Amino acid sequence: MNTKELMQIALDLVGMKEIPADSAIHVEGEGIKRLLFAIDVSSAELLFARMNGYHCVVGHHPRGLAQASYYAILERQTELLEDLGVPQEEAKEATRALRESIFLSSHRANWEDTLLLAKVMEMPYLNIHNPLDELGRRLLERRIKEREKSNWKLKDLISALLEFPEIQKAPNPPVVAMGSPDAPTGRVAVFHGTGTNGGYGAAKALFRNGYNTVLYIHIDYQDLEKLRKEFPEKNLVISGHIASDMIGINPYLEELKRRGIEVLKLSDL
Ligand SMILES: [Fe+2]
Ligand SMILES: [Fe+2]
Repeated sequence: MNTKELMQIALDLVGMKEIPADSAIHVEGEGIKRLLFAIDVSSAELLFARMNGYHCVVGHHPRGLAQASYYAILERQTELLEDLGVPQEEAKEATRALRESIFLSSHRANWEDTLLLAKVMEMPYLNIHNPLDELGRRLLERRIKEREKSNWKLKDLISALLEFPEIQKAPNPPVVAMGSPDAPTGRVAVFHGTGTNGGYGAAKALFRNGYNTVLYIHIDYQDLEKLRKEFPEKNLVISGHIASDMIGINPYLEELKRRGIEVLKLSDL
């Protein structure tokens, strides 16, 4: 297998036509039979792979040129809000501050570090971010739709999340960050697969457009404090970062194994 095929398999899982801005093939390669996967790839993973006879390293979080253009994937926040029924202008305004702050921090990032080492080492290397988060979003949403019934409570939503083995075995279980476990969920929005969590802006837009419960995989404390003050009657559930990432990553790695690739996973405990 080659690196193009490794990327294509991920794109095909969610029907994406192009490699999104937060994903990239950093060093091309072919004849790949043994592969190392890590959510975060550093020099250590590249060196470990070379020392132990792996033919390719696949990471999740953006690195290299995908880190430099990562900010562009934040457009997906606006699109997802619109998909969830938020009017276009409101969706744009709700995501503006976060899109700008990620744009600025993309300029701060040292995007060269693993890229240059992999090139010098001639180690085939790619990172696949949004396609696998999008897959995770769909799987989370599907599970919730299957389990939802009238009078569904936040604790039932937590139970549905715990059905995922990735979430079940995570050291930090899902959290009801706003609301109480016995409160009805009302309408639930799964907001994931958009570069990062939607922070204050996306949750606010969802709360104002008919959703009672927002599911994020993580959130910053300042955003949570603002939401708690402004929407005391609404609910927010945190499913957990790495466990939720793995919900989309595991089916991809399983697909590679089905195609005869040996995979070592340096994630998912
Ligand atoms: Fe992540
Ligand atoms: Fe992710």
